[in-house]
Amino acid sequence: MSTLVNDDVEKNANNENTHTSTLTVEIPIIPISTTSNEHADIIASPPVTVTVAEASKDTTDTAAIVVKSNNSENNNNNNNANLQQDQQQDQQRQQQNTNTTITTTMTISSKDKMDTDPAMANFKVLFVLTQLIGLTMIVLMGCWIGVHMGGLAGTSNPSIEFNWHPLLMTIGLIFLYGNAILVYRGFRSLRKRTLKLCHAAIHVVAFVLTVLALVAVFDSHNLAPKPIANMYSLHSWLGLAAVIMFCLQYVAGFAAFLAPGAKQSVRAALLPIHVYFGLFGFILAIAAALMGITEKAIFSVKDYSNLPSSGVMVNLCGVLYVTFGALVVYLVTNPNYKRKPLPEDTVLLTSAND
Ligand code: HEM
Ligand code: HEM
Repeated sequence: MSTLVNDDVEKNANNENTHTSTLTVEIPIIPISTTSNEHADIIASPPVTVTVAEASKDTTDTAAIVVKSNNSENNNNNNNANLQQDQQQDQQRQQQNTNTTITTTMTISSKDKMDTDPAMANFKVLFVLTQLIGLTMIVLMGCWIGVHMGGLAGTSNPSIEFNWHPLLMTIGLIFLYGNAILVYRGFRSLRKRTLKLCHAAIHVVAFVLTVLALVAVFDSHNLAPKPIANMYSLHSWLGLAAVIMFCLQYVAGFAAFLAPGAKQSVRAALLPIHVYFGLFGFILAIAAALMGITEKAIFSVKDYSNLPSSGVMVNLCGVLYVTFGALVVYLVTNPNYKRKPLPEDTVLLTSAND
């Protein structure tokens, strides 16, 4: 094991704003059956230097790795004097090094303004605040349902089964949806691929809860002693539109960015569209939820116009939806908070799926 530090890396390390990360790289040593001194240098002259060139565009995943021999200059100067000796040594090394791999740990530093930027301190405060507001929103909805709406039940009691609908929508299509899109910024130090998997996985959980929430509301209409019409309100239209948009977005995002993964140029072109529709769907879900709680409050809160405690709770829930949504959109659209690619996102040059 040897530690390899490249000149460029050191320059970056001295820079005031750097991001440092450690990588373990396996470098296969391929014996070449030739007596050419140039090739012999490549085979036989560790340490090898690995240069990582970061992508110039934030949205793309390209990088270049240059592997070169540190000793090649010295060896070239002494070509003639050492030629015979080198050839003998090379033959010995070729025998010893067949299929050998050097595993080495290297420290890579790259410019990352974000890490030392005071804007990041703001981000952290706002990120924690967003989580607190999101959790309060869920607890408040739970309390409203538990204290004023009769709690939760299964299909045997359709009017109470309905209560799963606002609870699961609040957790799934608002809180988890918001957090899935915050994941790239909130956990910026993780590798891009890990973040993609988290982003996709949180969206799946949000989707499952959304489906259960829809089952609950359709059951509450269809299984009622006197069945209630479906899909008559603006809330239900816009709510269903948000769910359909979410599903399309998931399929497109999965196919383009995860598996099978589009070409890099196509992914770069799709990303702004993906971000736009992702945020649009989120705002639409919040708008639908606001209509939903308003409708339910008018149906169920007794003496709503005198603002009883049940009315205050449901109103506060709406205020928290709006605040949570506003914070998520701010954190996801502020260019200062955008995650910069890490060297290890790209160092292994692993195709479309990075
Ligand atoms: C983003 C979240 C939400 C979405 C996507 C959504 C979606 C839907 C859909 C598609 C329906 C139609 C069901 C049917 O016709 O049988 C519905 C009904 C309903 N939802 Fe929501 N909902 C959401 C949040 C809420 C919230 C937070 C409440 C608050 C209590 C709520 C209250 C209702 C009510 C009262 C109905 C039955 C009346 C109607 O069809 O408008 N919804 N919802
Ligand atoms: C309903 C599903 C989805 C929604 C609503 C959604 C929404 C979003 C949003 C709003 C962003 C911007 C985040 C930011 O700028 O910090 C984003 C970024 C991204 N999403 Fe999705 N997404 C969804 C599914 C997926 C899936 C399945 C994948 C596949 C892995 C994916 C891959 C990405 C990638 C690669 C980015 C770019 C992150 C960056 O700025 O570097 N998305 N998504």
